[in-house]
Amino acid sequence: MTTAPFTVAIDGPAAAGKGTVARAVAARFGLAHLDTGLLYRAIGAQMLTGADPIEAAQTLTPDALERDDLRTADVAQAASKVAVIPEVRAALLDFQRAFARRAGGAVLDGRDIGTVICPQAEAKLFVTASAEVRAARRHAELLGRGADADLATVLEDVRARDARDADRATAPMRAADTAHVLDTSEMTVDAAVAAAIAVVAAARSALGLGVER
Ligand code: DC
Repeated sequence: MTTAPFTVAIDGPAAAGKGTVARAVAARFGLAHLDTGLLYRAIGAQMLTGADPIEAAQTLTPDALERDDLRTADVAQAASKVAVIPEVRAALLDFQRAFARRAGGAVLDGRDIGTVICPQAEAKLFVTASAEVRAARRHAELLGRGADADLATVLEDVRARDARDADRATAPMRAADTAHVLDTSEMTVDAAVAAAIAVVAAARSALGLGVER
């Protein structure tokens, strides 16, 4: 295993498949993985129960990421709302940067990893898909978890979150100039994972780092 920093930045909108791709890349190359959306979700969940989001961000502890209610639609919207607050983002910066540059390498997925958290990332991907496809995937996932979900409402939620995440003043969601854009609208999960692994393998080869299992 390499000890040199090697960061893979994976950004993109909700339900585009970046979590799946990030986990697969991390497993393939033996890298640590951080789903940065969980940080904002943990703060959003605390805001929903009355906490001040800035204080929640400044006192966030790892066990807050273990709550089992972080994947709900209400928490997703709350996460997107607290993510607009510059002080919330600032409080999470050092932790994410240290994780990104940890020895052995790391994969971080989020909205601003390649642009703000780790602009020097050795490999950058922007994983996206049409809003309709993403809503259909999220709808199926919610039904699979036994939740009561309506496709039109999920599509509305996806669009609202896209607009808030892309239009905010601080660290808006966008593809870094050097990111490889992966549109998964018409791709199978396996094809998306294979394409992402090829991008990361090429970046590792260019640096003389191992690509074997
Ligand atoms: O990736 P996710 O759906 O779990 O993220 C939830 C919300 O958190 C998302 O709508 C915006 C915010 N977020 C962010 O602003 N920056 C990140 N790096 C990750 C998530």
